[in-house]
Amino acid sequence: MNANLQNSSTREIVATTPGVPATDGDGVRMTRVIGSHELNMLDPFLLLDAFESDRPQDYIGGFPSHPHRGFETVTYLLAGRMRHKDNAGNEGVIEPGGVQWMTAGKGIIHSEMPEQENGLLMGFQLWVNLPASAKMTEPGYQEYPPAETPLEVRDNGTEVRVIAGTTSEGTVGVVRNEYVHPTYLDVSLPAGQSFTQPVNRKDTTFLFVIDGQLETGTQGTQLGRRMLGVLGEGSEVEVNSATGSRFLLVSAQPLNEPVARGGPFVMNTKEEIMQAFDDYKHNRF
Ligand code: FE2
Repeated sequence: MNANLQNSSTREIVATTPGVPATDGDGVRMTRVIGSHELNMLDPFLLLDAFESDRPQDYIGGFPSHPHRGFETVTYLLAGRMRHKDNAGNEGVIEPGGVQWMTAGKGIIHSEMPEQENGLLMGFQLWVNLPASAKMTEPGYQEYPPAETPLEVRDNGTEVRVIAGTTSEGTVGVVRNEYVHPTYLDVSLPAGQSFTQPVNRKDTTFLFVIDGQLETGTQGTQLGRRMLGVLGEGSEVEVNSATGSRFLLVSAQPLNEPVARGGPFVMNTKEEIMQAFDDYKHNRF
C-alpha cells in the first residue's frame, strides 16, 4: 500500500454512480442514487432518491398513502413544496431549505404530495437505517422550515446549509440523532474556493453533486453534476471547485447489523418483515 495514502487522513473517492432512473409513488420520476442494483446500500443509508423536474407529469401523482417501519426518512427540498400528512394527524409543508427528518420507528402511514401544479420540484429523500434497538420506537418528527435551518456564510462566499452535524467553523445543525450521529450539509462553493469538513474516520461518507463540478481528495478526483461519490476512510473531506459547485456532504456511523428489506419496511430479519406486512394489513400501525 502507498505510504502516503495509508497515512493520509483526507478521504478519497472509492466509487461513483449516477444512480438509475426510477419511478415510485404514483408515477413520480426520479433518480435512485442509493438503493438500486447499482448501489444497494451504504450502511446506514438505505436509499437516496434525487428529484429534479419542471414537468408536472413527472411529479404530480406524488406519494399517496403508504407505510414505513424500521428506519428514518429525510426529505430536503431545493425547489418546490411538498405536503405531508400522516395517520397520527400530523401535517405540514416542506419548503426549499427546510428539512423533515422523520423517525418511522414502529410504523407510520403517510402521504407526500407536491404542493404545486407546475414549476420545478427538486430535492432529495434519504433513508437512514435505525439500529435494531430502535426499530420499534415511537414515531417522531424533527421538522424545520428554512428560517430555522442554519445557513453558514463564509468569508470566501461559501454557503453551508447545516441540516445535521457541525461544520469546521462551528455551526451546529438542527437535527439531533444519537443513533448514527449524522452530518448532512448542503454546500455552495464558489469557483476557485475550497472546503474542508472533519468527519469521523470510520463513518460512511458520500458527496452528491447538485450543480457544477468538484475536485476532491489528495488527487483532485473530479466528480460531475448529478454524480454520487463514495468516500473511503479518513478524518477529513476536502473539496475544491475550479468552476464552482453545489453539493451534499452526508456522513454517518454505520450500524453493521443485518438488513432485511421488504418495500417500505426495513428490519433485521425476514420474520420481522413478514410481521410488518401483517401488522399493516391488520391496521396495527
Ligand atoms: Fe414516505
